[in-house]
Amino acid sequence: MSTPVKKVPIHLQSSQNRLIIKNGKVVNETGILEDDVFIEDGIIKQIGKNLIIPGGTRVIDARGRYILPGGIDPHTHFEFDFMGTRSVDDFYQGTKAAIAGGTTMIIDFVFPKKGESILDKYHEYRQKADDKVCCDYGLHVCLTSWNDRVRDEMKTLCQQHGVNSFKMFMAYDFMLNDEELYSAMEACKNLGALAQVHAENGSIIRKNVEKLKAQGVTGPEGHELSRPESVEAEAVNRACVIAKAVEAPLCIDNVTTGESGEVIKEAQANGQIVYGASHVHNLSMIGNPNVIYTIASPPLRSNPEAPEKLWDLIASDVLQLTGSDHCTFKKEQKAMGQGDFSKIPNGVNGVESRMAVIWEKGVHSGLIDPSRFVAITSTNAAKLFNVYPRKGCIAVGSDADIVIWNPAKTQTISAQTHHLAVDFNIFEGMVCHGVPEFVIVNGRVCVDDENLRAVQGHGTFVETPVNAPFIYAPEKLEEIFESKKNGVLDEVELHNKLAKIEFEPKTCFTPTLPDSAIGTPSCRGARPEGQRNIQDSTFSISEEMDTERKSCIKVKNPPGGKSSGFW
Ligand code: URP
Ligand code: ZN
Repeated sequence: MSTPVKKVPIHLQSSQNRLIIKNGKVVNETGILEDDVFIEDGIIKQIGKNLIIPGGTRVIDARGRYILPGGIDPHTHFEFDFMGTRSVDDFYQGTKAAIAGGTTMIIDFVFPKKGESILDKYHEYRQKADDKVCCDYGLHVCLTSWNDRVRDEMKTLCQQHGVNSFKMFMAYDFMLNDEELYSAMEACKNLGALAQVHAENGSIIRKNVEKLKAQGVTGPEGHELSRPESVEAEAVNRACVIAKAVEAPLCIDNVTTGESGEVIKEAQANGQIVYGASHVHNLSMIGNPNVIYTIASPPLRSNPEAPEKLWDLIASDVLQLTGSDHCTFKKEQKAMGQGDFSKIPNGVNGVESRMAVIWEKGVHSGLIDPSRFVAITSTNAAKLFNVYPRKGCIAVGSDADIVIWNPAKTQTISAQTHHLAVDFNIFEGMVCHGVPEFVIVNGRVCVDDENLRAVQGHGTFVETPVNAPFIYAPEKLEEIFESKKNGVLDEVELHNKLAKIEFEPKTCFTPTLPDSAIGTPSCRGARPEGQRNIQDSTFSISEEMDTERKSCIKVKNPPGGKSSGFW
């Protein structure tokens, strides 16, 4: 592991405090504009043409490049004690690698052991992460047991510690049963938090593992055999049914199959608020069941149709989030499961490669446009975890978390060049169009012309307030965005208004944003001239999969999601 770069004292940073990015294409989820972006003291201060700015400001020429909101990876597991070992990328190495790939905020999971205090574990995570993180971070909290103390501590975490999401597992030794899931989801709703689930049927998996071992199956192929697609889809359905019973919004954290997606789509069609996330490895690779290094849960599917089905779900806004589930174990740790597939530590890398791989498989292949890319890699996470518009958009008043993305350059992913502690890379050899030439983290240039200059401790913990208006109060957004559109509010006032929305628990949700929530001055949404029409695009999995397939995906909803009125 390389030696951490120490934080630069503030008095030495003055030359870095002002920055103007010129001549680039500013991409928001609602559209693309050619504008300059002026940053001061870590905040976007002006967007437009012919800006009047102070002398001495550093200029970055972004001609031919996209100016994207920094990625938000909503699913990482840094220095995570799991399956008898610890994931090797810690909060320093993990966030440094995130920045190298164009991600400027991660949300990790506080993971107590069964029976441990979730509050104590939260403090433990804060202690290990606060001084190490190179970019901002937030925390979800996992509920690995259920009792009155957990319920009380959830309240404390929401009201005093900036937590607004809790994750329940339907598999593993620490899974909750249906009654516990019911109570936990109900508690989430009552707190204005978002319930998330790892959806796989743990009881069936346990029985399948027993059976496979009795049949003499010991190799890694046993992993996917014990966790077929139907085992995931059943749990997704059950989670939706339970969430519906308690009228709680729900996020399915790990959609790996079309079958699971169809369940979510049906729940959404019935008016339920259900969001879905898919991980970068599931979106880009077909699993080889005999390879120990790609073992994760749910499994990387060997079904060759799985990735394209997931892209279809993303393009049609059934799924809104893309994460990495970054949870890395070295080869020697993976070898703990040699001779017993159920002991292979679950998890793969992805935090560094997520943006490039999603760009390659989504935008470069013509399936989605840059605005939808921004939505699924940044904006939607900011909205669901309630840090929008501070994060997730290029807007006046937002944090200067920005990526200058060169779509004309290529990179080849390799463990030889990655910035991770893990000693292999599941995307080894994948050629991706799109390179983050500059990555600006809270106003500081942390990738400077492709040179990584991440700083330990530069990031901070970002509180994620409860009652995310995009989940819990969409009708209140209508009025606020209307005022914004009419010029009554500027971006900063908009942000303040969003933060102050008064909340009454709702049981009837509208899953889309009002039309007035888009088209703000910094994100006017017309399709730029020359931009590809993706309606008849062609999808192809890269050659390194050994399987060349082409199929057409018709995008059912406009890129940017159903809420967009510009397409
Ligand atoms: O394989 C994975 N993802 N390991 C980490 C635990 C989880 O499922 O999130
Ligand atoms: Zn995970």
